[in-house]
Amino acid sequence: MANLANHHRSSRLSGFYQKSVAERATIVAQWAHLTPAEQTILTESLTVAQADKMVENVVGRYSLPFGIGVNFLINQRDYLIPMVIEEPSVVAAVSFAARLARAGDGFRTGSTDPVMIAQVQLLDIPDPDLAISHILAAKAELLALADTSPTIRELGGGPLAIEVRSFAQTPTGPMVIVHLLFDTRDAMGANAINTAAETIAPTLEKLSGGRALLRILSNLTDQRRAWAEVTIPAEAFTTPDYSGTQVIADIAHANAFAVVDPYRAATHNKGILNGIDAVALATGNDWRAIEAGAHAYAARDGQYRALTTWEVREIERQGDKETRRQSDQVDTQSKIENRKSKILFGRLELPLSVGVVGGATRSHPLAQVALKILGIQSARELSEVMAAVGLAQNLAALRALVTDGIQRGHMALHARQVAIAAGASGQDVDSIAAQLVREGQVRLERAKEILSKRYE
Ligand code: MEV
Repeated sequence: MANLANHHRSSRLSGFYQKSVAERATIVAQWAHLTPAEQTILTESLTVAQADKMVENVVGRYSLPFGIGVNFLINQRDYLIPMVIEEPSVVAAVSFAARLARAGDGFRTGSTDPVMIAQVQLLDIPDPDLAISHILAAKAELLALADTSPTIRELGGGPLAIEVRSFAQTPTGPMVIVHLLFDTRDAMGANAINTAAETIAPTLEKLSGGRALLRILSNLTDQRRAWAEVTIPAEAFTTPDYSGTQVIADIAHANAFAVVDPYRAATHNKGILNGIDAVALATGNDWRAIEAGAHAYAARDGQYRALTTWEVREIERQGDKETRRQSDQVDTQSKIENRKSKILFGRLELPLSVGVVGGATRSHPLAQVALKILGIQSARELSEVMAAVGLAQNLAALRALVTDGIQRGHMALHARQVAIAAGASGQDVDSIAAQLVREGQVRLERAKEILSKRYE
């Protein structure tokens, strides 16, 4: 039912940023059918008593802004994106990029099954080759033992496979590493898979004649990936100052820089994670796990690289076949070229182990509200939305970097904060911010001066 209702909503919310916090909250509440209690949670968030149950030695709470990325169209469905982040510009930038993506019908996404990997480290093995063959021969027994979560089993998940890797040489000698692949369905699954790893370890010791040391999941969840793609016509990038064709060519150059140079790739991928982490935080997911997986995956061929692809492609404009039939067959080469248009194709793929049940997704009241705003049905869907957000965030950063540079947008937002700090409210915020930027001096003193002149 919820899905049907969602069908007719548009996340294209023009001027959302100009509204007051209360107005925005009302729009989001209507969008997501939030109850009055859920609306209160938006501003009150976690209580100290709830915080005290989440971690140890609690003495207070720490708040961060909870913003909404707008304009997202993903697989033909509109989404509002809850984002928790301290950095200005990120939410504005991602919303801008999502609007650009609508010119190409939004994002298309996909994902693998939610398959996690647990590792058991085996040491002091008398005969590694024999141990490996014993372990592989006992696969069925090991998988049955690892089936430790009835809840996950009922949902169609559970242990899938056993793989063995051998390291003949390490700084402390040879070791055999056993991987347990486990479909954790809608859970991030850390607890389930760690329990399964600990459960099979004694049997692995018997099979190998060795000693099991570490029994823990891997954050390089390369069997649990999500991807997003976007195709945007060059014209969508055209502004009075820049040609769209040039901008998309330069975005491809910027991406190529991050493909070959780890110094640039780290910053490039950080920008992607600005968006992904913000959604992870909003939904109560483990963003350190996501970071670890993303960076390890970015270095999977031995060199740390961009997680994205951006390239310029040529397509025939729609209706060209018709045009060609109507004109006679004597097209010149230049006429044919005129009919081609340039588009920007982008793709992001990365490991994304996120859950929509258990952990902080359950215990943090605002995480629950965030999931309701997203209207997410499964962990896979959440991971795909995150991939789209990461791709949009990267697009926004690259577009800014290849045109005005990143500081101009930052300055405009910084100026708003300075105006607010000077005491401005309502419409004064934007007009004073605009004046500060125009004058090229975004300073608190100047903002106070302008404000006091207005009301003297
Ligand atoms: C800033 O938080 C992120 C960027 O540096 C990303 C990038 O350079 O691509 C703008």
